[in-house]
Amino acid sequence: MNPVIELLNSHRSIRKFTDQPIPQETVKTLVQAGQAAATSSFIQACTVIQVNDQDKRNQLAECAGGQAYVAEAPVFLVFCADMQRNKLACEMNDAEINSGFTEQFITATVDVALFAQNLTVAAESLGLGIVYIGGIRNQIARVSELLELPELVYPVFGLCLGYPDQNPEVKPRLPVEVVLKQDSYSDSGDQETIAEYDQAVREYYQTRTGGNKEMTWSEQMSGMLVKEARPHMLSFLQDRGFLLK
Ligand SMILES: Cc1cc2nc3c(=O)[nH]c(=O)nc-3n(C[C@H](O)[C@H](O)[C@H](O)COP(=O)(O)O)c2cc1C
Repeated sequence: MNPVIELLNSHRSIRKFTDQPIPQETVKTLVQAGQAAATSSFIQACTVIQVNDQDKRNQLAECAGGQAYVAEAPVFLVFCADMQRNKLACEMNDAEINSGFTEQFITATVDVALFAQNLTVAAESLGLGIVYIGGIRNQIARVSELLELPELVYPVFGLCLGYPDQNPEVKPRLPVEVVLKQDSYSDSGDQETIAEYDQAVREYYQTRTGGNKEMTWSEQMSGMLVKEARPHMLSFLQDRGFLLK
């Protein structure tokens, strides 16, 4: 191991923060670390909105289903997939962007994820804690309006940042044999391995909740994946100029 891999393996989401502020210089440093991530064809399609206004924060917390840490964290960032800037780049060269391709949606979204994870690792290397907030997509239209996002821009997720005021255990991940395949896809033997992993997750939740939560990984997935998943997303994204072709 080395310190970078140890840092990566020690990640756990933080949902309770101290009042210690994060200097704006640090926020800038973190955003620059995000920008250093690889970017599909150099499109640099990530825009970050730092939300300082407390009323907006409260509304975002509400949009995310009442997640108080969205309102309370010292810093809250919204990561947006942004093809509007690329449209501008085309216009600067008297060209008209041919937008709406699914491929562009994928590349812009992947850019955002790589940027955010770079920023996250940089933050954790400074002793900060984070939690991603996909919950803002519950009310994505309201979030977009609140942040005045133009066409060709959509909010992918938020991120709470601050100094941890809790020290949760690292959540066990699937055994590597289940996620690393050789030469072709095969799931033979996976069910047995997942059943063992289920027990590790059950123990993790029992310890974390003092015996209040009894849940395996496969139970958690089967509870969630039988439900609809934010069915408003497709029409919203199409309305903003994504996923049209
Ligand atoms: C894109 C994304 C969105 C997420 N959205 C939320 C969220 O809205 N609220 C929350 O409490 N956690 C959220 N999480 C955190 C996950 O629940 C968490 O990463 C996962 O359970 C694994 O736990 P760990 O990060 O502590 O290892 C999100 C994570 C990701 C990557």
